[in-house]
Amino acid sequence: MTIWRRRDVLKSGIAAGVSLLAPRTMHALAKGSATLTPDDAPRSATRLASLRERVRIDRGWRFRLGPDADPAKGFEPSGGGGYGKAGTLFAASAADFDDSAWRAVDLPHDWAIELPFVADPRLTNWGFKPLHRDYPDTSIGWYRKTFALGSADAGRRLSLEFDGVFRDCTVALNGYLLARNLSGYAPFRVDITDVANLAGNNVLVVRVDATEHEGWFYEGAGIYRHVWLVKTSPIHVPIYGTYVTSEVNGRVATVRVVTEVANDSDAAADCRVMCAIIDAAGRQLATTPADILRLTPWTKSEIRQEAVVRDAQLWSPDTPSLYSMVTTVDVNGAAVDRYETSFGVRTIRFDANDGFFLNGSRVEIKGTCNHQDHAGVGAALPDRLQHYRIERLKEMGANAYRTSHNPPTPELLDACDRLGMLVLDESRMFGSSEEALGQLERMVRRDRNRPSIMAWSIANEEPAQGTARGEEIGGVMARLVRRLDPSRPLTAAMDQGWGAGLTNVVDIQGFNYRATHTDAFHAQHPAMAVWGTETGSTVSTRGIYANDAPRGYVSAYDVNAPWWASTAEAWWTIFAARKWIAGGFIWTGFDYRGEPTPYAWPCVSSHFGVLDTCGFPKDNFYYYQAWWTDRPVLHLFPHWNWVGREGQDIDVWCHSNLETVELLLNGTSLGKRAVPRNSHVVWKVPFAPGRLEARGFRGGQQVLVDGRETTGPAARIVLRPDRPQLAADGEDLAVVAAAVVDAQGRTVPTASDAITFEVTGAGKLLGVGNGDPSSHESDVGPSRRAFNGLCMAIVQTGEVDGALRVRATSKGLETGTVEITCKRSAPRASI
Ligand code: GAL
Repeated sequence: MTIWRRRDVLKSGIAAGVSLLAPRTMHALAKGSATLTPDDAPRSATRLASLRERVRIDRGWRFRLGPDADPAKGFEPSGGGGYGKAGTLFAASAADFDDSAWRAVDLPHDWAIELPFVADPRLTNWGFKPLHRDYPDTSIGWYRKTFALGSADAGRRLSLEFDGVFRDCTVALNGYLLARNLSGYAPFRVDITDVANLAGNNVLVVRVDATEHEGWFYEGAGIYRHVWLVKTSPIHVPIYGTYVTSEVNGRVATVRVVTEVANDSDAAADCRVMCAIIDAAGRQLATTPADILRLTPWTKSEIRQEAVVRDAQLWSPDTPSLYSMVTTVDVNGAAVDRYETSFGVRTIRFDANDGFFLNGSRVEIKGTCNHQDHAGVGAALPDRLQHYRIERLKEMGANAYRTSHNPPTPELLDACDRLGMLVLDESRMFGSSEEALGQLERMVRRDRNRPSIMAWSIANEEPAQGTARGEEIGGVMARLVRRLDPSRPLTAAMDQGWGAGLTNVVDIQGFNYRATHTDAFHAQHPAMAVWGTETGSTVSTRGIYANDAPRGYVSAYDVNAPWWASTAEAWWTIFAARKWIAGGFIWTGFDYRGEPTPYAWPCVSSHFGVLDTCGFPKDNFYYYQAWWTDRPVLHLFPHWNWVGREGQDIDVWCHSNLETVELLLNGTSLGKRAVPRNSHVVWKVPFAPGRLEARGFRGGQQVLVDGRETTGPAARIVLRPDRPQLAADGEDLAVVAAAVVDAQGRTVPTASDAITFEVTGAGKLLGVGNGDPSSHESDVGPSRRAFNGLCMAIVQTGEVDGALRVRATSKGLETGTVEITCKRSAPRASI
C-alpha cells in the first residue's frame, strides 16, 4: 500500500481543498499527525465549490434575560469551575442543559426594544430603557445556540464572525472561553477549530452585558447584527485579507490588490495566488499574474498584484458600479481557497479651495449623520431595512452618510455601495489603547475595499480634541489608519479647538455646527480642506406646527434649534455659498430613540431627524429635496385642519426650488412670491376651511401644484406597502404605511386612532411605529396609534410563496387591507 505523507499530499495537490479529502484525515493533516493513503483521496471534485463556506447563524437561538447569580436559570458556572478549568464555562454550555424555558429568537435581535419605558432621568439619553447597573434584570442577556458540524468539516479551519454585539460579551463554545469583546460596534472573530465537536452538537453561549453605555443615544442590547460560521482550508485568505485600490487614468483603471494568505498547518507550502476582476454581469475583465507565495507553517504572508481594467465603469452615487475581485489560492495546481471582495473604481480628492472631487468632478457633499435604530426593530435591522433607509435619504437628495458615532453594520455599507451613498466611517472609541486601536483597526480593515467609504473619522467632540494630548492620541490613531489605508483622508468631528490638537493630525477639518467659525479657520489654514461633520440639529416633530413642551413636540416649521445648532436654511445657506467647504452632514437623517432634546420625559425619542423614526418625511425633508436635487419640488404646509381657529392667521410655508409660487385659498389668489435661493416662501393666511393650493412656476410656466384640504372626520384606513412584491426568503420585508383617511380618501392630519395590525399568509409582523417621539406604546406590536394621521407596520416574509395579507383595524374606522405577493427565492444560507 502506498503511504502518502503530509508533505506528499501537499505536493501532489490532493490537499487542494480540505473538502476533497476524507474529513478526519484532513483534520489530522492540519494537526500535523496525518499519514494519508490513496483511499483518502477525493471521491468527487464537485466539492470544490465549497472551498470556503460562510453561513449565517441567525436562526433558532434561545434567549433569556437576567443576571448571572440565579442557579435555577442555569447561569452559574458548571462544575463549580467557571474559568477555573477550561471547558467548564457557563452551566448553559452543557450539552444536556435544559433551555426550554428560554425564549426562541432569531438574529438580529435587540432586547432593549421590548423593554418598558422607565421614567428614570438617568436613562434620558438612551430612550428611557432600563439598561443600567440599577436594572440588572433587564441589562444582562444570555443567548444559546446549538449547531451541528459534520465529519466533512474535519481538517478545515472553523471560525465564528460576530458583526456586532451590544455589548461586553463573553463567548463560550462547548464550555471553552473564546472571547470577551467589549465594543458594541466593532466586529470580532473567534477561531473554534480546536474546541468544535465534529460529531454531534456544539453549544454556543453568549453572555451579553448592556449595563454600560458607549454613546449618549439609544444603542440597543444583544446580538443585534449577524453571526457567521466560516469554514476554510488550513491555507486560506484570512478575514479582511484583501486590500484593493485603484488608480484611474481616463477610463483605464490599474487595480492593485494586496492579498494575505494564512497557513494554519504544520507544513510549509508554496501557493499560487491569482485574482480575477469580474463585472456585474459576471464577465471576467482582467486577471493578475498567478504569483507564488511561500508559506511557512502557522504564518501569514502577503502578496501584491495588479491588473488593468480598460473602460472602467466608475463608481459614484449616480452610477454605483461594483466589481468583484475573486482571489484563488492554489496549492500544486489545485484550488484551496476562493475569496471574493466587492470593490469599486473611483477617485476622491479633497481640496482646500474647491471642496470635494469624485472622479475628477466637484461634488457638494449633501450628507446626513445617523444612528442605527429604526421604528419597530430597534437596533436589530433586517438587511432590507438598511436599503429602505438609504433609499429614503437618496430621495431627499442626500449623497453622503456619516456613521455617527460608531462602525456600522456591514449591510448598511452594502446598501451604500449598491445604491450609491458616500460614507464617512467613524470609530467609536477615541484612544491609543490596545482596545481603541483594535476597534479602529477592525473597522478600517473590514471597510477599506468599499467604494462608498470616502474618509475615516477618528473622533467626535472629544474633550481632548483641541489639546496636545488629543494630538498625541489622534496621532497614534492616524498612523494606524494611514498604514492600513493610505488611500483615504482622515477627519475629526470637532466642536471647538479648531486649529490645535486633532487639527494637526487629520487631513480634513471637521466642524460640528458653528458654521460662522469656518471663515476665520479658512483664513488661518488656507491649505486645509474643511467640511461640516455635523450640521443642523434642527428640531421638529412630524405634523406639529406649534411647540408643545408638555407633550414633547416641536413645531415642524424650520425655526427650532438648540443653542449650538441651527435651522436647515441657516446652515445650508452658509455652506452653499462657500465652495471651499466640501459640504456637510445634517444631524440627523432619521430620528432615533434617546436624546429627546429639547425635552425630557415623557418624550423618549429625538426630534433631530429630517425623517421620523419610521421614515415618514417631516416638512424639512422637502427643504433639502428642493435645494439638494435637480427635480422640481413644491411642498405646501401646514395641513389645513384648523377647525376652531377660523379667521386666525396661520403661517403658510412652501419649500420649493421653482422661481415663483402662487397661493390660493378656495380659488382666490393670495399673491405670487419669488422663491429666494436656498430659502422658502411664507404667507400669513386667515384660516377658512376648504382648499389651500400652491402653484409653482418656472420660466412663466406652471410646473407643479400642491394642495392641503380641510378633511372630514376619519373614516377608514389605507395601507401602502413600500413594495408590492417581496422575496419569500424569510428575510425580505415591506414597510407598510397606514394612513387614516376621510370618506374622500384624504389623510386626516390630526388623526390618532389606535390601529391593530394582523398579518396572515406568507409572512409575519415584525414591529410597528408611528414617529411620535413621546409614544410609550410597544414597538413589538400589534397595535399602534396613528400619529398625525400615520403609523406603520414592518412585515417580513416567510419561506413560502403566496400572499402576505395585512389587515389594519380600528374601532369606528373601515378596515384597511393589503396583499403583498411573496415569490420564492433561495433563502440565504443560515443555520
Ligand atoms: C452633537 C453630538 C451628537 C448629538 C448632537 C445633538 O454635539 O455630536 O451626537 O448629540 O450634538 O445636537
